Amino acid sequence: MRLLISNIKQLHQVETGEGRLRVAGEDMAVLPSIENAWLLIENGRIHSFGEMASVPESQVDECIDASGKMVLPAWCDSHTHLVFAAPRDGEFVDRIKGLTYEEVARRGGGILNSARRLNAMDESELYDQSLERLNRVMAQGTGAIEIKSGYGLCLEGELKMLRVIRKLKENGGIPIKASFLAAHAYPVDYKENKEGYISLIIDEMLPVVAGEGLADYMDVFCEQGFFGLPETERLLDAGLKHGLKPKIHANQLHFSGGVQLGVKHNALSVDHLECVAEAEIESLKTGKTMPTLLPGAAFFLGMHYQPARKIIDSGLPVCLATDYNPGSCPSGNVPFLLTIACTQLKMTPEEAVNAVTLNGAAAMELEHEMGTIRVGKRANLIITKKIPSLAYLPYDYGNNNIERLIF
Ligand code: NIG
Ligand code: FE
Repeated sequence: MRLLISNIKQLHQVETGEGRLRVAGEDMAVLPSIENAWLLIENGRIHSFGEMASVPESQVDECIDASGKMVLPAWCDSHTHLVFAAPRDGEFVDRIKGLTYEEVARRGGGILNSARRLNAMDESELYDQSLERLNRVMAQGTGAIEIKSGYGLCLEGELKMLRVIRKLKENGGIPIKASFLAAHAYPVDYKENKEGYISLIIDEMLPVVAGEGLADYMDVFCEQGFFGLPETERLLDAGLKHGLKPKIHANQLHFSGGVQLGVKHNALSVDHLECVAEAEIESLKTGKTMPTLLPGAAFFLGMHYQPARKIIDSGLPVCLATDYNPGSCPSGNVPFLLTIACTQLKMTPEEAVNAVTLNGAAAMELEHEMGTIRVGKRANLIITKKIPSLAYLPYDYGNNNIERLIF
């Protein structure tokens, strides 16, 4: 199957020569593009591309005229909790009336609320709901995604979530990575026996999860009131013994030391980072761990935003992800995430697109497959409607500017 897209107003995030594995510092402001371009796809892979002056005349099966439109790689959303059983709009109202996210959690709401609902739902219904959500974010341009467990909080529930994710991997049509996040909250039965829950995760859940190949990564909600540094360290070590690289929640609500711990364990990414200062930045500079910002959660919880400028200006990469989940960010809409990144984090549109394409791919170890327009990579692409500029995507927020998706 050969598909030619011609007359593309701007083809964004192209790569020729040496491929980049991620983008950092001032390079993030650069989005390599070709004006008036063509792109040829063969059997789902990028075959070739160039300027219209050199458009190939060979036989193709389908031709798309992209006059006035942009083409760019599909979004790579590297942090979501898309598998969940029910919305938490009641807690949303509680927070409007004055409760904080932590207070809601302390009253047995939050993650524990989601765990009750998830454990009461059968696997096939959970799958159907999750597939619907996946299809919705794909329609908004997401072409690769990471999904976490963490609402089971018991062996059976965690396995149910991970089996749903595996089925999504098989049928979803885009690359999906799975993270094992049993250490998301202490379940009610272990409230007074935290050590018991850590042992349950390490001795009983991990061997099954790893043995059945149900997870790619190990995640922990490293946070005051959830999992502290010593517990997180033990969990990450245990995950590594089973071949699961760390990819953790760090520094969302407090300066927890989670960023430094992630770097020390060569985490693939440390995610959230509402609380970041000099020490965290210096630590990130010493390793390859990707700082992943989730400003959708800061937006929805009314918290202060992540210091993206400080991170980029110190030469580091920034990755953006949605955190799609029923509590802190009930939206997996990447175009809206771009708007928040530009308006609140003061990232330029080019930086934001780099953060959610190549850097998003890198935060899921998909940088050789996704995230740029490069010969041989998977052709998961967005074709926009007729729009005046790339900046128009985050500018025209709330409106759908995607015309067609190629997955
Ligand atoms: O990334 N912070 C921890 N976990 C999720 C929220 C989970 C929830 O509230 O259900 C997050 O924001
Ligand atoms: Fe999260």
